[in-house]
Amino acid sequence: MDKSTVKIAVVGATGNVGRMMLKILEERGFISENVHAIASEKSEGKKVSFGDDEILIVEALENFDFSTVDIGLFSPGSKVSAIYAPKAAKAGCVVIDNTSCFRSDPKVPLIIPEVNGQDIANYKNKNIIANPNCAIAAIAVALKPLHLKNHVKRVVVSTYQSVSGAGKAAMEELDQQTRSLFTGTPTPAENLPRPIAYNLFPHIGEFEDSGYTGEESKMREELKKMLSSKIELSATCVRVPVFVGHCSAIHVEFEKPFLVAYALEILQNAPGVQVMDADDPMDYATPLDAAGYDDVFISRLRQDASHPNGLAFWTASDNLRKGAALNAVQILELLLEYKAKQKAGSFRLSVT
Ligand SMILES: NC(=O)c1ccc[n+]([C@@H]2O[C@H](COP(=O)([O-])OP(=O)(O)OC[C@H]3O[C@@H](n4cnc5c(N)ncnc54)[C@H](OP(=O)(O)O)[C@@H]3O)[C@@H](O)[C@H]2O)c1
Repeated sequence: MDKSTVKIAVVGATGNVGRMMLKILEERGFISENVHAIASEKSEGKKVSFGDDEILIVEALENFDFSTVDIGLFSPGSKVSAIYAPKAAKAGCVVIDNTSCFRSDPKVPLIIPEVNGQDIANYKNKNIIANPNCAIAAIAVALKPLHLKNHVKRVVVSTYQSVSGAGKAAMEELDQQTRSLFTGTPTPAENLPRPIAYNLFPHIGEFEDSGYTGEESKMREELKKMLSSKIELSATCVRVPVFVGHCSAIHVEFEKPFLVAYALEILQNAPGVQVMDADDPMDYATPLDAAGYDDVFISRLRQDASHPNGLAFWTASDNLRKGAALNAVQILELLLEYKAKQKAGSFRLSVT
């Protein structure tokens, strides 16, 4: 089984993440004839793009036979994944799930190929692999190469998350609210907790007894699962009126002091990241710069003035790509490589 033969079902194919999965599958050489676009019954028969030239007809999840495909790329929301991912897995299809449904299950590997690709072998536990939260994915990619040289002890982060992270309805809400403010007839918040046009709010996910939100707790738990259980993280997640692209202001405490020049050199040579402003401080990255790109952009790297072992930096990334669809397709590529190498008796894995 390789890119030209693997049979794939994209579940949630009409959504933000699903549409991006179809685009990335085409970009990375998968074949449209082998791909099924799946969504809810109300979307059955609709058309979705696979690259610039191909169209797929949407099929309903309820009637789909998962024994006919090798891989399920799932993003239909947690409640739907909870029901259909185990069914698909039982039918012999390996599920790569973008929702939060299985991320904390100890038997389900939670994978970013650049961070913990070696965990891929554990897919066999349940035939399910989880894809991490979009905000922590970018941060973990940046922290891994630094952690390899000098262990991360503690992370304090504030995120600036775009509305596409909350689905297509939230994007429409930002669009409508912005237009209606111009015409003097403000529209109320429906899919987001507060008006988002010309506003922002520190509220992503449900509030918990601890005072953190679900999104903030997920970031902490998922970093521990992927990088090291010893790392502590405190996050404040903020929704901002941006369509695509998540940013984070990050303060990291390491075990030992970290020279900025050495950290810069490590990041410049690390997979999946691009340092933007090494030559000119004006070249820092914004969501607009990151949207449409695969890499996590890093800028504003500096000594943390509040701690001798600390660094501070800024990340910008496309939340629909590295935060979701790209990472899922990279997991799929890693799985194909793993299976091929296992067959050949060689286990070293790479990431592109
Ligand atoms: N957006 C991000 O940056 C991001 C990042 C990481 C993870 N995720 C996670 O990925 C999931 C999807 O996010 P999204 O932004 O793509 O949401 P979205 O734009 O609202 O799309 C939801 C998709 O799920 C489908 N769906 C909903 N109910 C269904 C059902 N009962 N049966 C079959 N399909 C159903 C929808 O199909 P219809 O059009 O037919 O309703 C649509 O294709 C969420 O769990 C989210 O937390 C999102």
